[in-house]
Amino acid sequence: METNFTPFDNFDLKFCIAIFSSILLITGILKKIWEIRKLPPGPWGYPFIGHLTLLGTNPAETFIKMAIQYGDVFFIRMGKWPTIVLNSKEAIDEALIRMPEIFSDRPKFYSNNATNKIKGLVFGEYSQRLRLHRKIASGVLQEFATSKSAPTEYLVRKESDILIQTWMQSQDKEFNPIHDIEMTVAAVIYQLLFGSDINCHSDEMFIDMVKNLKTVNEGASAGNMIFVNMLQRFIMPSKVKQLLERLELNNKFAEKCISESLPSYDKNHERGIVDGLITAANKYAEKKLTVMELQGVRSTPLYGISLVLALIQPQQHYNGQFYNILGGRRATLQDQGRLPYVEATILEVMRHGTVAPLNIAHSTSSDVKLRNYEIKKGTVVFCNIYGIFKDQNIWTDPNTFRPDRFLSKNNTIIHERADIIATQFGVGRRRCIGDTLSKRELFLFITSIYQALETNLRSDPSYGRIINLNCKPTPYKIQVNPRY
Ligand code: HEM
Repeated sequence: METNFTPFDNFDLKFCIAIFSSILLITGILKKIWEIRKLPPGPWGYPFIGHLTLLGTNPAETFIKMAIQYGDVFFIRMGKWPTIVLNSKEAIDEALIRMPEIFSDRPKFYSNNATNKIKGLVFGEYSQRLRLHRKIASGVLQEFATSKSAPTEYLVRKESDILIQTWMQSQDKEFNPIHDIEMTVAAVIYQLLFGSDINCHSDEMFIDMVKNLKTVNEGASAGNMIFVNMLQRFIMPSKVKQLLERLELNNKFAEKCISESLPSYDKNHERGIVDGLITAANKYAEKKLTVMELQGVRSTPLYGISLVLALIQPQQHYNGQFYNILGGRRATLQDQGRLPYVEATILEVMRHGTVAPLNIAHSTSSDVKLRNYEIKKGTVVFCNIYGIFKDQNIWTDPNTFRPDRFLSKNNTIIHERADIIATQFGVGRRRCIGDTLSKRELFLFITSIYQALETNLRSDPSYGRIINLNCKPTPYKIQVNPRY
């Protein structure tokens, strides 16, 4: 009986499959090599986790070291995420300023997607809707921050007076000031948002919110290692669960505050930023007012922490300027620009404290060519602001806290240096919308506290440590004396 199959035919099939698979494999490898060749240089990482475990406790510092070997644009992998790190002001400008349409997206990290309520301004994708919400939020914030009738000045004074009184009660003791400062800064932003006649210090929900913010800030900062890679959820499930609960609680809190504001909202009598947002949202027929516009509240405790840096300054500089320029009266916002040493201190607080050392991660919304490298859509972009602020080619003695580095011989601010510090609020189309407000607050806080109190440092903080990509000092103690 004749058959159509021979052993040779069988061999043929196997041979064809083997050849075909080899071609696929070789093409795959060649394609990968070709792609890698077109990427920026970078160190070798591990399969799956990439460079996650190689970044250490201070990723920004690690990036500075990597930049020495690989240049100011290099490539790593954060788990499954292809990532480029921009390590100089020039590289950041080339990407974020010259190609803003492509470099203004945010990575879809697990932390950003984990709760869809966090689809806000800070982590939202760079869409038409986000642009509109950003415009609305930034307009309202600007109005509140700069308008003469705005309560910023009144609120900062009110809250710093409470802080000063609290500290005066412990004047013979040494204490850690960080918690009080966090509460003060959060109280100001809370009242700016919801109205100034709220007594938040006795409000349980407010106190809980500040506690929550600390956990969220430590855990959910963009780029956080535990969230970048899905794998991490299985390694540290309890930490991730706790963080998600906190996130949820925060969002619930903000939503509750907003929904409580709505029934008593009166467009002719706006109580705070939230009312301003409701008015603006109505004007733009944008009905869905989410907590997204308020995400900036998160950053405020952080800069409260760096405010502490200012408290340990050589105080004779302040004394001289306060007496010579203000003649003993209390500083007001009108005095911004008249107290160069205070201004220089704020700039040095920003530089030395570097609240957001790697900015908030951006990502690319399409394939793009940066220098001669081919960067794929969805690549994470880290801007190493910390690296710029510690760059020895720009700053002599970058690890020392020295406000006078910003002052010229004539005691005026050196603007080229101040411009570099402006990058602390981000670069390009996703730049922080709370910068004016923050700078005003810092000015008022620093002047209020200094005019009332002499602060003595009793144990040294260390500022170099970075936890979860946020800079914060280790605990330390101060002791205060009244000035008058
Ligand atoms: C010293 C205080 C602050 C610092 C250092 C800071 C820093 C930053 C940084 C680095 C970004 C990311 C910029 C980028 O992606 O390029 C950002 C974004 C943002 N900040 Fe701030 N911020 C501060 C205070 C505030 C305050 C007080 C608010 C509002 C009340 C605020 C609201 C926002 C918002 C809404 C965004 C998201 C903008 C976007 O993604 O389009 N920030 N901030």
